[in-house]
Amino acid sequence: MTTRDTVLEVDGLSVGFGPQAPNALPPVIEDVSFSVRRGEIVCLVGESSSGKSVTSLALMGLLPPSARITGEIMLHGREAGEPSLDLLQLSRRARNRIRGHRISMVFQDPMNCLDPIFSIGNQLVEILRWHNALSRVEAWRQGIGYLHAVGINQPDVCMKRMPHELSGGMRQRVMIAMALAGKPELLIADEPTTALDVTVQAQVLDLLLRLRTQTGMSVIFITHNLAVASRIADRIIVMYAGQIVENSSAESFFTRPAMPYSRALLDALPTVDMIRQGQKRLKTISGNVPGLAERPAGCRFFPRCVHGVAAMCDSGSPVLQSAGADHLVRCRRWEEISA
Ligand SMILES: Nc1ncnc2c1ncn2[C@@H]1O[C@H](COP(=O)(O)OP(=O)(O)O)[C@@H](O)[C@H]1O
Ligand code: SF4
Ligand SMILES: [Mg+2]
Repeated sequence: MTTRDTVLEVDGLSVGFGPQAPNALPPVIEDVSFSVRRGEIVCLVGESSSGKSVTSLALMGLLPPSARITGEIMLHGREAGEPSLDLLQLSRRARNRIRGHRISMVFQDPMNCLDPIFSIGNQLVEILRWHNALSRVEAWRQGIGYLHAVGINQPDVCMKRMPHELSGGMRQRVMIAMALAGKPELLIADEPTTALDVTVQAQVLDLLLRLRTQTGMSVIFITHNLAVASRIADRIIVMYAGQIVENSSAESFFTRPAMPYSRALLDALPTVDMIRQGQKRLKTISGNVPGLAERPAGCRFFPRCVHGVAAMCDSGSPVLQSAGADHLVRCRRWEEISA
């Protein structure tokens, strides 16, 4: 159900690359549908190549023009009477106005996004003035405020620094400050802590939790690491080989994971006992995410699934079905396996 409590609704989103029909390759992501509530932190998880980044780039309108995109991405208005926008139908100009203002993105490697020849202050001022009619002096003052909000000590000093003079954790905070400068309703963060050491990673996660509480913004947080997701998620969406295979409240997901793939990901996490005993070998999921050309006709996880049963699992793609309140799973055997 759509309400003003829903900020984003993605329906049947598919993205393909490469030649057009009749030589078209299968879509990289297929029939991706989910919604994000206001103030909700949704973690999109899955191994590398499962389609997480393609999904986020589609939401941001940052896929190359040659991408074949179908489906609907509805951005709902905050106020009564404010129209909902289908982002895929907007002109490039209208899309640019939304980017950074209503939806912002933070990437894994801030160095690729910061301009190496301008100071942090200059870049922050430019973004603030792009979104608001501000004098340079006022934008500089607000820039200091944003750096302070993301926990940077001596923000006035940081404003004068060049990107290469900052640590990785500081740069990631600066990127978050820049993303916040447009006061977005939705922040998309693609592996924002993957390159950081664990202490700094924990600080950035705490920062996102605090900012969500302070601003009420929603967050789509992309990570391949379920331990990271467990620290901040209200909702977990698991992707595998271009499809959503589980979508659940975090509470239900971590107490009753229903999809064998999710269970295998959780089993692969190190436990406190393993860490204490210095055990180095973690359980791994055998095999790899299938490439586009190798995707099985039935359940895409079948070749790696310890619960797979031929004839039941290897023909026709399973649909997403209910596995309890606010919990969807794409598995034909979830009930038997969970019993
Ligand atoms: N611009 C592109 N052109 C062709 N294939 C792409 C492009 N971007 C991503 N892909 C393919 O889409 C699949 C999903 O990629 P991605 O969304 O980056 O995965 P994840 O972020 O989950 O690691 C991969 O197989 C990748 O090679
Ligand atoms: S449908 Fe079958 S192969 Fe796929 S996850 Fe469920 S049990 Fe495993
Ligand atoms: Mg990615």
